[in-house]
Amino acid sequence: MSLVVSISSFLLLCELSISGCAELVDDCSSPAKEVSPLQTLSLSNISKFNIPADRTVLRFGKSEHFEIDGWEELASLSQHGLSLVGHRFITVWRCPQLQSLEAEEAELQPDKISRVESLKIASCDRLNRLPQVLHELTFLTVMEIQGCRGLVSFA
Ligand SMILES: *[C@@H]1O[C@H](CO)[C@@H](O)[C@H](O)[C@H]1NC(C)=O
Repeated sequence: MSLVVSISSFLLLCELSISGCAELVDDCSSPAKEVSPLQTLSLSNISKFNIPADRTVLRFGKSEHFEIDGWEELASLSQHGLSLVGHRFITVWRCPQLQSLEAEEAELQPDKISRVESLKIASCDRLNRLPQVLHELTFLTVMEIQGCRGLVSFA
């Protein structure tokens, strides 16, 4: 079953949490527009994410808290318009196919993710590197890495 959401509606929405969903689809009938950023975005146990990347960027791009958990199929963040940019507290859990947290074609720039204060990553078996810019994150106070067997070193 698909869950159809209208991510451009609800102009005052601060927090969005969706969990346990076979397919998440955007109701593209409303125009994609920049609305106030979500403070908290939590998407867990989503089997299939079917929201166009441009719409994801507009709505989810600047949420302070960014949590994804239990995405079996997620191979890259950028393919869905997701990224580490714009968030302060980042949690990525149980994404077994995810290989990298940055787009393949573009390494993250330090000035773009300098606001990150917390980075928690767990159970991402195929993750084989962390962004080079990690050591330039001057606000980073919490970093947790657990059960990422493919990861052998970081900057
Ligand atoms: C996601 O699924 C896992 C495993 O089935 C479960 O333990 C967890 O509570 C679920 N997460 C949420 C937020 O529902």
